[in-house]
Amino acid sequence: MKINKVVFPVGGLGKRFFPITRTIPKEMLGIIDKPLIHYAFEEAVAAGIEEFIFVTRRGKDSIEDYFDYMLTNSEYFHIKTGSVCYVRQSEPLGLGHAVLCAKNLIGNEPFAVVSADDLIVHEKSCIGEMIKHYNGSNMVASINVASAEVSKYGILDVAHETDKFLIAKSVDEKPSPKSAKSTHAIVGRYILSNKIFDVLGNLEPGIGGEIQLTDALLKMIPSCGLTGFKFEGKRFDCGSREGLLAAILHVANQSEALSCIIKNFYKGEI
Ligand code: G1P
Repeated sequence: MKINKVVFPVGGLGKRFFPITRTIPKEMLGIIDKPLIHYAFEEAVAAGIEEFIFVTRRGKDSIEDYFDYMLTNSEYFHIKTGSVCYVRQSEPLGLGHAVLCAKNLIGNEPFAVVSADDLIVHEKSCIGEMIKHYNGSNMVASINVASAEVSKYGILDVAHETDKFLIAKSVDEKPSPKSAKSTHAIVGRYILSNKIFDVLGNLEPGIGGEIQLTDALLKMIPSCGLTGFKFEGKRFDCGSREGLLAAILHVANQSEALSCIIKNFYKGEI
């Protein structure tokens, strides 16, 4: 099935990176010479997506400025004029709320959501692979995390597992390690039915007082299903300082010139 639209939720505060994110959007933090959001956009373009919706907010204007530049310099992206739009999330009320803000721009079709915080490095586009396998069930990218880490994620309760997929019977946002039903965590790639907007519009705030996308996914399991996609590639949690540093080192290590710097650092020459 063709998925034509992607939502980038870029309205988060980036508290884990204060003070830099007081004035610079966390999505604009650099992996050497490209900001995180560049990678998310690139992944969506590689998936054949043609309409790009940013859910943005106060203080995030540099993302719009960046894409003005990128889209007029065809060495980076070949995108049709008018295919990028911005909708405002006036308050940071959670991922579910951010997705709901895009409702009027989606219409009657399934759509993708890509979070720039989760950098996934692989020759194949992760969201592109998910689109290839999308069959109408809400789909999330999933990885196994350490048990101590489950409280950072949406965690799938899995009824059935195959090589590539996890068929979920339930999902819980940020459970404690004791109450978690598994260590299968959601990472920030989703293919969602547009019916999710009705559910999101009627949700009470969940954990952290936020409108949680996971709560909407849970409510839709009986009607729509929920599939975890076991993607290939390295994933970096760039919403954390450790993850961002690991991503920078990984990308630098791919480049001959920059990997020398890392080697010199370990030799004590820097
Ligand atoms: C969000 C989702 C969570 C998911 C995570 C992936 O949490 O609510 O279900 O596992 O992204 O990165 P956040 O990191 O915004 O708190």
